[in-house]
Amino acid sequence: MDENARELAASFDLEKLTPEFYINPYPTYRALRENEPVRRMPNGSYFLTRYDDLVAAYKNTKAFSSDKKKEFAPKYGNSLLYEHHTTSLVFNDPPAHTRVRRLIMGALSPRAIAEMEPALIALVDRLLDAIEAKGNFELVGDFASAIPVEVIGNLLDVPHDERESLRDWSLAILGALEPVISPEAFARGNKAVADFLAYLETLVERRRATPGNPERDVLTRLIQGEANGERLDEKELLHNCIFLLNAGHETTSNLIGNGLVALRNHPAQKQRLLETPELIKSAIEEMLRYESSNQLGNRMTTERIELGGVMMAAGTPITLCIGAANRDPAQFLDPEAFDIARTPNRHLAFATGAHQCAGMALARLEGAIAISRFLARFPNYALHGEPVRGGRVRFRGFLSVPCVTR
Ligand code: HEM
Repeated sequence: MDENARELAASFDLEKLTPEFYINPYPTYRALRENEPVRRMPNGSYFLTRYDDLVAAYKNTKAFSSDKKKEFAPKYGNSLLYEHHTTSLVFNDPPAHTRVRRLIMGALSPRAIAEMEPALIALVDRLLDAIEAKGNFELVGDFASAIPVEVIGNLLDVPHDERESLRDWSLAILGALEPVISPEAFARGNKAVADFLAYLETLVERRRATPGNPERDVLTRLIQGEANGERLDEKELLHNCIFLLNAGHETTSNLIGNGLVALRNHPAQKQRLLETPELIKSAIEEMLRYESSNQLGNRMTTERIELGGVMMAAGTPITLCIGAANRDPAQFLDPEAFDIARTPNRHLAFATGAHQCAGMALARLEGAIAISRFLARFPNYALHGEPVRGGRVRFRGFLSVPCVTR
């Protein structure tokens, strides 16, 4: 390994990232994997980049806790952001996690998801019609981010004319999860939680008065709970609705945006998908692996434990770098190549273990319908200006991608 890579690994600090890193983090990830796969950060946390180490941490929920009450206290203080993030299921351990997850999984059943397909196709086609009429378009705003907002809005049956704020709230709340946040980002995140809570209170009140069909309407299902009496309390209900709305937004929008940009950058792979549309399923998996929209996960050790050859004390925060693990040559052949027919492709874009993404079937469906229909309609789409990256390390995507249909 050359000196540059050693230097790149040795100087890596998640709290001091360079502009080059935001554009292309993969050389740094590779340097870390090869030189310091379990790297201690100046703040005492560890940054993990090897596939096997991530799997080991994800699978051991007892030793690697998702509960963020301790970790978030200094970052958020006694704020609504603190209340929100520490109440959502993703940042909790069993038994609280198990209970909430069971209710949410019940609401995201394969049947409920299959039933969404016709409306999803109609939505995608409407967006494609509007793009065709324009010629010049913006891939993220006009397409990628317009899809998940509607899908999650449908899932909770949020009235169409009340969906406008959802995306901004979601961006502000998830933005506050970045490793370092400005006072403005903190204030924006808190205000978004407050506004979102106030909105959901009225929505829940209306839904209690006029329940929907619990087979199809996730909010009614979460309000009514399970037949065995399992229910969420009011705080759990509101914060987990916010979480659900957020979890499905930016991640899926970035899958669609990153995927279409990756195809544009790999013309031979794009041609292959055009000629063999059945490859769409493996193509989506490859897009998830190659440019994972959620690049980082976090855990905290609950006991003294060894991971990747390093002994860690109890109470050590660790960052799991999905973006690096998904390009680990010990797991993937020729990992830097974008291969839409890659098999096997056991990527970690949705994590693994007890917290594995509860919405992955929905995300896959959205990705496959959006990308296959976009490509069939505009096989020669091209860039019409420089794409602008989102500037985030945790959620990797574009803010805007100016395009032309040709
Ligand atoms: C491409 C799109 C998506 C990606 C890459 C993604 C990624 C992830 C990842 C990595 C986790 C695990 C976090 C951790 O434990 O550290 C997760 C959890 C979760 N995701 Fe997704 N997600 C996507 C879309 C969705 C959608 C569409 C929904 C909902 C409709 C959703 C709902 C959830 C929920 C509820 C959890 C928490 C599960 C738990 O803690 O048990 N996600 N997601």
